[in-house]
Amino acid sequence: MKFDPRTLRDAFGAFLTGVTVVTTVNDEGDPIGFTANSFTSVSLDPPLLLVCLAKTSRNYAVLTGARGFGVNILSEDQKGVSNTFARPVEDRFATVDWRKGPNGAPVFADVAAWFDCSTHDVVDAGDHVILIGRVEGFDNSGKTGLGYARGGYFTPTLADKSLLASVDGGLLLGAVAVRNGEILLVEDGMGGWTLPFVEKDESDGLEALERYVAEETGLAVQTGLLYSVYEDTATGRQHVVYRAELGEGPLKNGAFFPIQSPPLAAIPDSAVRDIVRRYGAESPFGNFGIYFGNQEKGRVHAVAVKG
Ligand SMILES: Cc1cc2nc3c(=O)[nH]c(=O)nc-3n(C[C@H](O)[C@H](O)[C@H](O)COP(=O)(O)O)c2cc1C
Repeated sequence: MKFDPRTLRDAFGAFLTGVTVVTTVNDEGDPIGFTANSFTSVSLDPPLLLVCLAKTSRNYAVLTGARGFGVNILSEDQKGVSNTFARPVEDRFATVDWRKGPNGAPVFADVAAWFDCSTHDVVDAGDHVILIGRVEGFDNSGKTGLGYARGGYFTPTLADKSLLASVDGGLLLGAVAVRNGEILLVEDGMGGWTLPFVEKDESDGLEALERYVAEETGLAVQTGLLYSVYEDTATGRQHVVYRAELGEGPLKNGAFFPIQSPPLAAIPDSAVRDIVRRYGAESPFGNFGIYFGNQEKGRVHAVAVKG
């Protein structure tokens, strides 16, 4: 069967992906790299990943002959980096902040995550080769990744942010903030625990939540995707809850509890209790849904996001 390549490509493009920049160094020691959305995680043990490289790439010989390569998973605000590494720019590395990873491949600052790999296998596959890498080192910043679908970029949290900024006051912003398998709860002032919530002013958006959680905890905060939207029918207040990751360091206020066994009986607010319980149930599978409703009744909409 022979298909029109353009039509086939468009159909492949229906699959939503993230965006990566694959890097290595050439024989002269110069960094090289190109934009790729064909990244897939392959195996945890041994730790393997893959990316598909076009045989027409100017970097084909270097990448297939290299002893390793890096994969930089771009974050939402790195659209420009993606474009630079997909176009015939003279010095693609001039515009990014990079350094050598533990295995020697260039890794970028401000990415969602990076993996530095040794070359495990190079598999011939039609007009591409499949580069299979064994992860020798990685870092995960917690930032939300840049999305790509049908030839265009999308930015999941940035879209939320601008939407939020346009909503008038009266909103409470909350966070399901986690670190190393534990969830942050704060004192509710009445002897119980709750999630951190802050009132959104007319002028600010999601930054209000980041600022508040950072001040309360004394830790670095990275807000991620939307987790729950509900109205407390008793108070008439809207609540918008985001997932967040907290950085290392001592905690100033509140306490961390295991995500799988939070102190549910000590969380008096039923909506907060349901959020904490649902997060514990969803996190082993990474299939976080988004809840829309009021504090008693609503629906969880499944969004398939790998944890
Ligand atoms: C979002 C996006 C994803 C891409 N994914 C791939 C890919 O997975 N594999 C590939 O070989 N090229 C991919 N490309 C195209 C290359 O980035 C592009 O052809 C680049 O100029 C190759 O550079 P080089 O010839 O210097 O290697 C992608 C481009 C974009 C914009």
